[in-house]
Amino acid sequence: MKVLVVGGGGREHALCWKLKRSPSVHEVVCAPGNPGIKAEARCVNVGAEDIDALMALAAAEKPDLVVVGPEVPLVAGLANQLRAAGFAVFGPDKAAAKLEGSKSFSKRLMYEANVPTARFEVHVDADEAVETIRVWGAPIVIKASGLAAGKGVIVAQSEQEAIDAVRDMLAGNSFGDAGSQVIIEEFLVGEEASCLFIVSGDTILPLASSQDHKALLDGDMGPNTGGMGAYSPAPCVTDAVADAVLETIARPIVAALKQKGAEFIGLLYAGVMLTDDGLKTLEFNVRFGDPECQPLMCRLKSDLGEVLLAAAEKRLDGIELEWQEGSALCVVVASDGYPAAFEKGQTIAGIDAVEAMGATVFHAGTAEVDGVLVNAGGRVLGVTSVAASVKEAQQLVYAALKKLDWPGGFYRRDIAYRAVAREDNK
Ligand code: AMP
Ligand code: GLY
Repeated sequence: MKVLVVGGGGREHALCWKLKRSPSVHEVVCAPGNPGIKAEARCVNVGAEDIDALMALAAAEKPDLVVVGPEVPLVAGLANQLRAAGFAVFGPDKAAAKLEGSKSFSKRLMYEANVPTARFEVHVDADEAVETIRVWGAPIVIKASGLAAGKGVIVAQSEQEAIDAVRDMLAGNSFGDAGSQVIIEEFLVGEEASCLFIVSGDTILPLASSQDHKALLDGDMGPNTGGMGAYSPAPCVTDAVADAVLETIARPIVAALKQKGAEFIGLLYAGVMLTDDGLKTLEFNVRFGDPECQPLMCRLKSDLGEVLLAAAEKRLDGIELEWQEGSALCVVVASDGYPAAFEKGQTIAGIDAVEAMGATVFHAGTAEVDGVLVNAGGRVLGVTSVAASVKEAQQLVYAALKKLDWPGGFYRRDIAYRAVAREDNK
């Protein structure tokens, strides 16, 4: 089949890389793609958020399957339009994508469906929000309701920090419309995991577990980012935990959406925390996690094209996934300054040398200017390896990264530290 992938980040590079290696796929087209994706797919210069141009592209290319990578076009209704035009699509319709597009919708639905999550309030009025912050005290969590590329969550250590965050969000300063409603959440403590599911109506197929490091700095310190590294499997997700996430989180939320007339076809991502008080849902996303997708695709042995088409055509029942044993680990290399402002256009060299060390380099925020590879985004590369143990995978990636020649890039030195410590203690 011919597959059209929408998007141009690290997640889409990993998806294209895996689709290219799928026996059922003979051609991958990617819009817009990136310089790394060019090796796996024919890239077409159509933006991932340009719905009209994407519809025209689909009409011209006639793909057998469209895989929508990022959340923005899903929330905008790209999947609805593609389905209406007769295409097989992996990605939810607008009504189901609201699960990610609106945290207030998502939290309320969790509450209605009895899905475990942190206590919360939704506010549009700053004074009322401040009142709640005063009553609940710090630490406390403030979230912009709308899409904010992973940056709309402030874990405030003091009441003042929380108050500043809600005032800033409600004034529309940092997050625009996405901050016109804020969620105030109880602060939870525990280990986090990413639990991803391929969903096709009532059929829910879990992927292998993974864990992401959202904080910018070593030791999980500093501000939240889109994700600075990830690995799979996450040892804290035992079979019992995986089962509980499926039965108490994924199934009830998919059923609650269906009751609202929003059938889910696509990828459901549950960010969960294992607290002393049991499992809690931190968030839902409606697409593959980035960077979780990178290690997951490196471990997946099954034909990705076949599975995603089966989901799109509602014949997922009975399909199983096969995973490579061992661990896969991805370290994100970001532009110095990210998640705040950074300088673009710096030359990046040494990618071939990194790959010669046995790592796969997924491009996230790169561009080519006069044939030279440069940084063009905050998160730029995802250097990924698979090995028999998580420690070995970690050593492989960090050894390979020494070959990268980009002085303006930085990365965390401790991705998967918890899993490595667990392995060491065995
Ligand atoms: P989210 O985008 O909602 O998953 O939040 C991003 C990150 O913020 C999570 O991965 C957690 O590390 C942190 N976080 C979110 N909600 C809470 C909470 N209620 N308590 C503690 N940390 C949280
Ligand atoms: N890595 C977290 C996310 O994709 O939202």
